[in-house]
Amino acid sequence: MSIPVEAARAILRDNDRGGYTVPTAGLYPYQWNWDAAFVAMGWITFDEPRAWREFERLLEGQWADGMVPHIIFHDPKTEYFPGPDVWKTRGPVPASGISQPPVLATSVRHCREAARDPQLAEDRVAALYPKILAWHRWWVSARDPERSGLVGCLHPWESGMDNSPAWDAAFARVSPTPTTVIRRSDTGHVGAEMRPSDDFYKRVVALIDLYASLDWEPRRLWAHAPFKLADLAINAILHRANRDLLALAERFGTAAERAEISARLETTAAAINRLWSDAAGLYLAFDLISWQPIEAPISASFLPLWAGVADAARVRTMAATLERWARKLRYLVPSTSPEDARFEPKRYWRGPVWCMMNMMIAEGFRAGGAVDIADRIKADTAALISRAGFHEYFDPETGAGLGGGRFSWTAAVALSWPLIGGAAGA
Ligand code: GLC
Repeated sequence: MSIPVEAARAILRDNDRGGYTVPTAGLYPYQWNWDAAFVAMGWITFDEPRAWREFERLLEGQWADGMVPHIIFHDPKTEYFPGPDVWKTRGPVPASGISQPPVLATSVRHCREAARDPQLAEDRVAALYPKILAWHRWWVSARDPERSGLVGCLHPWESGMDNSPAWDAAFARVSPTPTTVIRRSDTGHVGAEMRPSDDFYKRVVALIDLYASLDWEPRRLWAHAPFKLADLAINAILHRANRDLLALAERFGTAAERAEISARLETTAAAINRLWSDAAGLYLAFDLISWQPIEAPISASFLPLWAGVADAARVRTMAATLERWARKLRYLVPSTSPEDARFEPKRYWRGPVWCMMNMMIAEGFRAGGAVDIADRIKADTAALISRAGFHEYFDPETGAGLGGGRFSWTAAVALSWPLIGGAAGA
């Protein structure tokens, strides 16, 4: 069983559209925010200037208030729906109006440490650092205006886990009647059974219509959002990203910035830990409108491991929870618990395995001392890719590759983790 390094590199090269990498040809023809962060970790293994370029192209889309959009519509001429005409944003380049889990600082730190050309890295990171700081400040001002320590997610696409069952109850409150006419293009690329339903698309677009009518103004969005929850992916990834930003601030920031980031880290560690559920044996997202925990065990429930905020007892409990899930499946980590009635092994974020989630969860377990489960997740990831190829996601029961093929972040994870070169499972 092996994964050819050249095949992974060829995917990134083929998906390169001139300094940015599309997630996959056809289905996703632009630059996506957290995809770009993972993809850069792939590029840095064989083309350093190209890795730095990926970040710069992403930040071309940054708004004056610091927001970094979830999709940057560089060169908008493809048939993608919903495109710039639906989002109606007014940033420096056509883009969506919401953000995505902020992996950027973690990726920039990783690339700086992996770089074999330290002078190049120094120059590029010096320019990136203030922009990342501005984005992290935006999360606080726009998405945690009450300073609870948890940022709110205002759209299922902001979480990066579009169709997760964790959003079902909150999403049921959203109007299913958009003003925009729905013109789906995704099901022309991938089977409808692997994609979200039409009802989901109507509500997704109705939310965009509402926020566009509020001019994407953060205070108005916060006041009027019918969908507002503290999601674990954004919160845990942001906490981890702030740790990495603090490391960058040692070199590139000021003492006041370091103090600001450190203070926020203390607040967010405590706030994330309040989301722990003894009954579930993991962390649960929280609905900021119904003011209830969201009883849905999903892969993001393990991401506080990646943040490094779970104590030893919680790490052990989460390992036991995942081992229990593993008895019902062949491959870890399913995006929804197989013990949950809403588990669907093939449908978007309702069961399948994503490789970049596996990397974050496994390395979180490893850092917490749960090495066996970390190794198991890594070996499963290598087995999935070497048997099925570089798919967007995988069936946790059969290992079949699903969604888009020749997928950039899957190739990047294989290169950077690394799963290639005999290190699979190591
Ligand atoms: C889907 C995923 C999202 C990802 C995008 C591009 O929308 O749910 O997380 O960023 O595809 O890969």
